[in-house]
Amino acid sequence: RPKRVILSGIQPTGIPHLGNYLGALDNWVRLQDKDTTTYYMVVDLHAITMPQDAKILRQSKRDMATALLACGVSPEQSAIFEQSKVRGHAELAWIFNCITPVGWLGRMTQWKSKLGKAHGSHADALLDTSTSTASLKMGLFDYPVLQAADILLYKASHVPVGADQIQHLELTRDIASLFNSHFKHKFFEKPDAISPPATKRVMSLRDPTSKMSKSDVSEMSRISLFDTPDAIRKKIGRAVTDSEPGVTFDQEHRPGVANLINIYSAMTNKTTEESMQDFGQLTSMQPFKQMVADAVITRLEPIQKEYARLQADPAFVQKVLDDGAAKAQVVADKTIKEVYNIVGF
Ligand code: ADP
Ligand code: NA
Repeated sequence: RPKRVILSGIQPTGIPHLGNYLGALDNWVRLQDKDTTTYYMVVDLHAITMPQDAKILRQSKRDMATALLACGVSPEQSAIFEQSKVRGHAELAWIFNCITPVGWLGRMTQWKSKLGKAHGSHADALLDTSTSTASLKMGLFDYPVLQAADILLYKASHVPVGADQIQHLELTRDIASLFNSHFKHKFFEKPDAISPPATKRVMSLRDPTSKMSKSDVSEMSRISLFDTPDAIRKKIGRAVTDSEPGVTFDQEHRPGVANLINIYSAMTNKTTEESMQDFGQLTSMQPFKQMVADAVITRLEPIQKEYARLQADPAFVQKVLDDGAAKAQVVADKTIKEVYNIVGF
């Protein structure tokens, strides 16, 4: 049986929140096993598609790598590295740039929503005007091509993706086929998505109909992995719920309560049914929220301790990143050598 090869990346921007942990990092930890080769990168090449300060970027990268380790991503089981340290990412992206139609990227909904945001108007109407793209950068437009290169560089068989990334993975699959047909060479295979269960999607504590996000202006909307127990109690205590009596799981009509139940289930590794048994007798929100807060605090405590310990040992974190890049580089170099040969370099 061929080994599974999994690749995933996270931006080094901001402190990871509970959504990043459940939707990505904790999943990364669970995907590590002896029959799987796992590549986990801090995607600094992607980060600079938005304005960055060099000093802050360098620090954020180290913090994110430290957070990965604290969450349980293992340097023995996985290659943990900075994307920019493996040159093949940019090299393969360039080859893909030279065969990918501009129209494919113009259809990406994330790009269209960025266009919409940049101009405060409906994106589709703006796509054809020459001024609409003036303030946005080429790299941002091209981001999904770099993602395709990230994945295909390691010939990943599986990619963990949230709902918002499915279109980009589809583009990667299309680019794999396009490369093969363009160069008349069956070289890349199409990677498959691994989707986290819907219950791992964490919603904003202030508006349970939108996802918890780093870009939300309200600090009260998200729980950071490094929030103190007091801050966690306060945020969950003020989470938007409803005035219905008791605790029931109804995603559609009680999204705020359902979000807290999902958080509790994920933090305690229980099913929704098991969690509902824990909440069975409660008639008001306050003790319910206390139980949720306790579960979050208990789960995050060892991660926070490990983070503090690793922060005091930056040389170790640096060594993990160097070793991870060296491991990844071996595979990346082999792919690039083969690709260059196919292209005619
Ligand atoms: P953010 O929206 O906070 O900036 P990113 O877009 O950087 O988060 O996402 C990083 C990873 O975390 C991705 O794998 C994404 O699918 C996951 N993720 C982000 N927000 C959530 C959430 N609220 N619930 C579950 N997973 C999430
Ligand atoms: Na492994």
